[in-house]
Amino acid sequence: MIARGFTRNSKTTQIDHMIRKATLIFSSVVLASRLNAVPAFAIDASHPAGKVSPRLYGLMTEEINHGYDGGLYAELIQNRAFMDDTKSPVHWSVVSGRDSGANIALDPANPLNDKLTTSLRLNVSNAAKGSPAGVANEGYWGFPVQPKTTYHAAIWVKAAASGLGPMTLSIVSEDGSTVYAAGRIPQLGTNWNHYEVTLKTGNATPTDRAKFALTLEQPGTVWLGLVSLFPPTWNDRPNGLRKDLMQMLVDLKPKFLRFPGGNYLEGNTIESRFEWKKTLGPIEQRAGHQCPWGYRSSDGMGLMEFLHWSEDMGAEPVLAVYAGYSLDGKYVKAGPDLEPNVQDALDEIEYVIGDTDTAWGAQRAKDGHPAPFNLHFVEVGNEDWFDKAKTYDARYTQFHDAIRAKYPQLKLISTIANDQPEDMRVRSRKPDMLDEHYYSATDEFLEKSRTYGQNADRSGPEVFVGEWAAHEDAAIKPWEPGARKQPPTPTMKAAIGDAVFMAAMERNSDIIKMHCYAPLLVNVNPGARQWRPDLIGYNAISSYGSPSYYTIQMFSRNVGDEILQVNSEEKEIQGCATRDSKTGEIFIKLVNPGMTNVIVKIKINGVASLASTGTAVTLQGSPEDTNSINHPQNVMPSTATLRDVKAEFSHTMPPQSIVLLKLKSR
Ligand code: AHR
Repeated sequence: MIARGFTRNSKTTQIDHMIRKATLIFSSVVLASRLNAVPAFAIDASHPAGKVSPRLYGLMTEEINHGYDGGLYAELIQNRAFMDDTKSPVHWSVVSGRDSGANIALDPANPLNDKLTTSLRLNVSNAAKGSPAGVANEGYWGFPVQPKTTYHAAIWVKAAASGLGPMTLSIVSEDGSTVYAAGRIPQLGTNWNHYEVTLKTGNATPTDRAKFALTLEQPGTVWLGLVSLFPPTWNDRPNGLRKDLMQMLVDLKPKFLRFPGGNYLEGNTIESRFEWKKTLGPIEQRAGHQCPWGYRSSDGMGLMEFLHWSEDMGAEPVLAVYAGYSLDGKYVKAGPDLEPNVQDALDEIEYVIGDTDTAWGAQRAKDGHPAPFNLHFVEVGNEDWFDKAKTYDARYTQFHDAIRAKYPQLKLISTIANDQPEDMRVRSRKPDMLDEHYYSATDEFLEKSRTYGQNADRSGPEVFVGEWAAHEDAAIKPWEPGARKQPPTPTMKAAIGDAVFMAAMERNSDIIKMHCYAPLLVNVNPGARQWRPDLIGYNAISSYGSPSYYTIQMFSRNVGDEILQVNSEEKEIQGCATRDSKTGEIFIKLVNPGMTNVIVKIKINGVASLASTGTAVTLQGSPEDTNSINHPQNVMPSTATLRDVKAEFSHTMPPQSIVLLKLKSR
């Protein structure tokens, strides 16, 4: 998880920062006195400099920061299968009153099945009509109570003796005094039974200060094997995704989705890697597993959910397969030892795209999706440059040969880029693509982005920047406790770094074919997050985009298919330009990292005509400005009409701004 951008020593960064600051002060003084001598940003539209990759903008995802459980995956019950902790039923508590009592305990002697190997025993000692007792779940830092909303509960339960019931399921305020929605199971059986109950709220005032209670009105003992509760989901999919977060992701118009990680693919140990076969089928057959970010994953987000998720966004899956290396440094030796892992990857690909007369293609059809998914890219592992034993070349080769032989149409991605030592990289085969990761301070991106991509070997392999993000301060490592004292999502200062780096990738998108910011999601509650900054923040009931989110949205939704050559005399302003070959629309992206207005003279040559009006979208703020749950729209793009557009025109960029100009040309 150590990312390359942070290898730079912090002293150098500090000195850079001072020089930069001095340069900014100097340039603002100069600018103030030479506003007429505007530097030019010249765009050559006479012929495209290259083709923009059709898959340039995508999403990277993994289970980190409660990104799935307690995040995008809409399940509301935390520790729904009671397996998060082997010692106690964490996130569950007893519900009792003055005249009622109960106790709860884990009971591995009464499991629901061989996957969910414990249950929760609820022993109600004292209860009556009007004074119930039972158990409650605290949710993922609360429950989202919305008015006139239907919630679907599913529970697996058995009673010690017949005649027990009803059991009431309710969403209630934290103190239990307000019932927002309730449903009932009239009678419980003495064998494991599965019940589905619908709960509907009335005119409730939205809140997340709620819990989910299961109560009895008479003494008795029951075992709960699994308790699940879903709000309405995106596209109404069962076991589906949270609607507000999906809307935000769809709004980014991603062309691909990289999953399931990241470190989540590898696991801390070989045993805790992401095992896709264990994530298929009904939720009561999914045991979950320990994720490398310190908590247990329910595996509710399984392979099929990832595939549906991609499809629902109109994005292609970029499937990362486990390549025999885990974060504790252990690896599976290439050769016969690695064969089962290679076969597992082949099976996984077959599940995604195999015909329905293949074993795993048939399983996919059985799981509800007979048509193959739109898979073109398979990544072999994640960040294998951490493998100090330098076994990646041999491991990659084995995967490469097996996948290539069976699926010659797929493009294969190596996780080691060309800037890593030769003896770490893949030498025995030529991968189609190399995955590069950059977590860098904004100041570093401001420097790096001037030349990034220019010198990439155009004969390939192509480049996939599978993880990147600008951070405000390189001295604070994103995974260290210090980072968690800062707001979970980035500030405007970071967005400036993101913008210059994206402009560089767009200028070179003939060879930089795909990129995605990481991490994507963060549950902002203390205790829920392990990394900062993250693109989108949320709690149980609301969500917001960071300035970086809106920056990516400005870029990804406004890109042509032709790269236009840009020659800039301007030292501070960085940018890029593309054109839609069908409509002639030109998209110019400019970044002003300075603290003063800059008037940029834009020169466009090689167009027959330009419409005199266009659109300017601006994202601007002080370096420390940001968005949050309580102030979700503090930094937002604003749109204005551009007038007097011609082959040479000037545009004033406010301090610390990211500007998108949309011009109509022929
Ligand atoms: O994005 C967070 C982590 O950073 C990823 O899991 C890992 O691939 C990288 O080191």
